[in-house]
Amino acid sequence: DTVGKVIRCRAAILWELKSKMKIEEIEVAVPVKDQIRVKIIYNALCHSDLHVIDGSLKTRLPIILGHEATGIVESVGDEVKAFKTGDVVIPLYQPQCRKCAACQHGDTNLCTSLSFSNEGSHFTCRGKQVFPFMGLGTFSEYAVIREHMLVKIDPRAPLDKACLAGCGLATGYGAAVNTAQIRRGERVAVIGLGGVGLSAIQGAKNAGASAIYAIDINSEKFDSARKMGATHCVNPRDVPKDGKFGSWFIKNFGAVDKSLECIGNVQCMKDAVEIVERGWGRAVMVGIAPDGATLSFNPGHLTIGKTITGSIFGGWKSIDDIPMLVEEMRKGKIEVDPLITHRFDLEKVDEAVELLKNGKSIRSVISL
Ligand code: APR
Ligand code: ZN
Repeated sequence: DTVGKVIRCRAAILWELKSKMKIEEIEVAVPVKDQIRVKIIYNALCHSDLHVIDGSLKTRLPIILGHEATGIVESVGDEVKAFKTGDVVIPLYQPQCRKCAACQHGDTNLCTSLSFSNEGSHFTCRGKQVFPFMGLGTFSEYAVIREHMLVKIDPRAPLDKACLAGCGLATGYGAAVNTAQIRRGERVAVIGLGGVGLSAIQGAKNAGASAIYAIDINSEKFDSARKMGATHCVNPRDVPKDGKFGSWFIKNFGAVDKSLECIGNVQCMKDAVEIVERGWGRAVMVGIAPDGATLSFNPGHLTIGKTITGSIFGGWKSIDDIPMLVEEMRKGKIEVDPLITHRFDLEKVDEAVELLKNGKSIRSVISL
């Protein structure tokens, strides 16, 4: 019985930028107050984890990455009411406290109750504090997570797939249906065909889009894009050298009603603005640009009625909405199989990193 005791277990630690993670034995603290200790079962690797490794997303080190997970509650702090040992859960880097101004506002999911950068750490390794990425750090067999960063899901859900609802799937799908507000018959372009972009395509398809342009410099992504519902696949590398992508796209396919940038590349964001319709077009920025990036564009795009917006975590109110996404997944209304290209044990997490970095995988699901 581990309740009330420090747990020693395995975790993948990033000690230095641009290096491999090391599998180490760590100590995981006893949960107190509103904290919940979760046994992590699966964790999929996301590009945001890579952004930390390569230094484009600044965080404290050493760190345990991972934020796209499923797990089972091991024990709870004395203030926890909504969870008990054995509950099947998804950790949420986007909290929902229900008390802050954002939680009480119908138009945003950006709960301000916590800022990860100020969160303490419940992990130690050889006497040193190790930080949890985004307040989670789920590349660990156990993690301590606060009550409003956790949601219960149907225990019948396939846990190896449901982990994708903790980030990539929710982010892309929600950006399409909530932020872009895609409607039946609309024409949509999705730039970047990773787990996030492919999920945006699926959102567009389920919302009834009549044409879905899937855009990526890696043509190996096009098969998956078609499986998710893309009607056209476009490689910007096919654009004549002297041409600009935006004008080339409009000349060949016409402007789209909605566009979604799912990479975090400033030039692609500009393209997303270029290719939407004047008057009503909406360009949605989903990818996270490197720290310090700026986006510039001709303000005339705004004058002629384009909307430029973005979202985090697909605009979902995390605790309210994620169980519904998992349910749609269970019923097959949302498909995840095409997103899962590889599976590894924790020891092989660096292989998953290499595959994602080199564009050879969409999601690798890691078993803890
Ligand atoms: N033009 C078109 N496509 C590009 C370009 C480019 N200049 N650069 C990269 N891509 C494509 C890659 O080939 C890849 O298919 O973008 C895709 C990105 O996919 P992943 O690396 O799998 O990333 P993903 O996990 O989907 O995350 C995308 O969303 O949540 C954020 O932090 C995350 O910013 C990241 C983004
Ligand atoms: Zn993520």
